[in-house]
Amino acid sequence: MNNSLWREHVLPFTVLLGLLAAATLAGDYLLHRMDLVWIGRYLGIPGTLLIIGSLIYSARKRKYITASNPKTLLRFHEFTAWLGSLMVLIHAGIHFNAILPWLATVAMGINVISGLVGKILLERSRRHVQGEREHYQLRGMSRIEVEQAVFWDAVSLDAMTRWRKVHIPIFIVFAVLALGHIISIFLFWGWR
Ligand code: HEM
Repeated sequence: MNNSLWREHVLPFTVLLGLLAAATLAGDYLLHRMDLVWIGRYLGIPGTLLIIGSLIYSARKRKYITASNPKTLLRFHEFTAWLGSLMVLIHAGIHFNAILPWLATVAMGINVISGLVGKILLERSRRHVQGEREHYQLRGMSRIEVEQAVFWDAVSLDAMTRWRKVHIPIFIVFAVLALGHIISIFLFWGWR
């Protein structure tokens, strides 16, 4: 396999996914060992809030807000969605009570994997666009302006646009399932 493809794309993807799996298993194991399983029950709440908070990048992208650097917000999205998913996975643990929460968990897992694939694609398209930029030698623009232009060009490149057509429906399925799970928890709160 091409060396740089492995080092720059496949390796980070594998590390981020492997860390997520390892941290989930370790977290679940520790909570059970320390008799703190109840913490896992509540981890679903901060996890969900982190995932919702991570979507601030989408608001920035669609210009609902204009403050903050989009690149920084995307990094924030990647980090908080990853951490939030970890909390939700520990929350899901190895307990099986109902089918809906598990469907939501599977959808979230697919969402995370798809997010990681998007990260690879974005990095590739960023390099591609960067190459073109250097070729055209954008003069007169400040470094920050050039960086932002490159960022937006990379985000809108064809491969990214096609990827988003898969990623966003996956996200919607996940959001609907998670909402169903959350509503059913509130409906039955304290009944058992
Ligand atoms: C539960 C987990 C996640 C959810 C719900 C989620 C949701 C989303 C959504 C809705 C978008 C579309 C943004 C837009 O076009 O407005 C998006 C884009 C993106 N996500 Fe995630 N994501 C998750 C996890 C991740 C992870 C773990 C990563 C990488 C570490 C990631 C990387 C990306 C990237 C690179 C984009 C593309 C940015 C763009 O299209 O402008 N996501 N995500």
